[in-house]
Amino acid sequence: MKVLLAGGAGYIGSHTAVELSKAGYDPVIVDNYSNSSPIAISRCEEILGKSLTFYEADVTDKEALRAIFTKEQPDAVIHFAGFKSVDESVRMPLLYYRNNIDTTLSLLEVMREYDVSSFIFSSSATVYGENAQIPCVETDPTGGCTNPYGWTKLMNEEILKDAALAITNLRVVLLRYFNPAGAHESGLIGEDPKGIPNNLMPYVTQVASGKLPFLKVFGNDYPTVDGSGVRDFIHVVDLAKGHVAALEYAKNHTGVEIFNLGTGRGVSVLELVNAFVDSTGVDIPYEIVDRRPGDLAEVWANPSKAKELMNWQATKTIGDICADAWRWQSNNPQGYE
Ligand code: NAD
Ligand code: UD1
Repeated sequence: MKVLLAGGAGYIGSHTAVELSKAGYDPVIVDNYSNSSPIAISRCEEILGKSLTFYEADVTDKEALRAIFTKEQPDAVIHFAGFKSVDESVRMPLLYYRNNIDTTLSLLEVMREYDVSSFIFSSSATVYGENAQIPCVETDPTGGCTNPYGWTKLMNEEILKDAALAITNLRVVLLRYFNPAGAHESGLIGEDPKGIPNNLMPYVTQVASGKLPFLKVFGNDYPTVDGSGVRDFIHVVDLAKGHVAALEYAKNHTGVEIFNLGTGRGVSVLELVNAFVDSTGVDIPYEIVDRRPGDLAEVWANPSKAKELMNWQATKTIGDICADAWRWQSNNPQGYE
């Protein structure tokens, strides 16, 4: 079965390409490399020991998509192609709304022309917004997003729900990722943020490598186990396997289904730092600074629905996440450059 991965050269897409291929699927990667490198695809090929099909194209370009659909005849689409920086989305909201929504519309329109019905979408825990109940359950209210990036995820969910109401054979799976982290255990592919990372794990690994002097821990006065923020860090390979499960699910279900992809375990920022030191032996100097605006005290998933309906659950530990993130960072201090 051929699966088109829009944005498949990126962090989550590249890991998913590997897991799909291992599970017997035939991934077709489409990416404009706006936040990635074709080297990620060669690294996937190295892991798999075989070549992958890929196209350099903008997913908002319907003519380019049509040419790819005509040639490849995909059976399903997984949509990772979007911009993901919260800060940047506040500074450049129109760019974010345009790219993150246009990519979805273009894919859906071309899928209709080619009678492709399965669509897996990269959503985020951010859709639960600032009033999130913890642990988050798929039926919880959404909204109250604190930035344009978050709204693009929620708007995409609404677009996909409406589309599935009108197009009766559409099979949509909305995957709400919690905090993806870690890297493939080979150390060949991983997260390659441009500039100074915003997210915790790439910041920690760059402190470990000496690229950054120390970690700023955003707040130690939250009502949590040790005062620092608590999140649900999910190993990117577990997350990638969630996409394989979602494709299997979509084969037998029309309409829309939403799944949290998280571990169901909250880990605090300071616990993560300690786990990193324990599993790598590398010290992480840190300072406590003010809370970051827009952050919540705790966000973690109730992942039981994914276990029940897709037979998927995360298996890797926070120690695995740290060890694998560090292997990637130390083997590739400049990322894919
Ligand atoms: P990423 O930036 O590494 O991957 C996205 C890929 O899409 C990149 O390779 C980029 O070049 C490509 N892309 C962007 N716009 C494109 C366009 N118009 N045409 C073609 N390619 C385009 O990000 P990621 O971490 O792999 O995230 C994948 C998806 O998951 C994103 O939609 C992101 O918003 C979502 N998500 C990520 C996280 C996270 O923490 N990483 C959390 C929740 C949701
Ligand atoms: C952030 C985004 C979210 C997005 C997700 C994945 C915000 C408010 N939320 O989630 O919309 O889907 O990334 O891209 O930006 N921390 C530090 N020091 C750092 C970095 C982070 O202490 O240098 C703390 C944060 O305060 C938080 C935790 O680490 O408690 C995780 O932060 P981060 O990795 O940025 O993820 P989220 O904030 O959960």
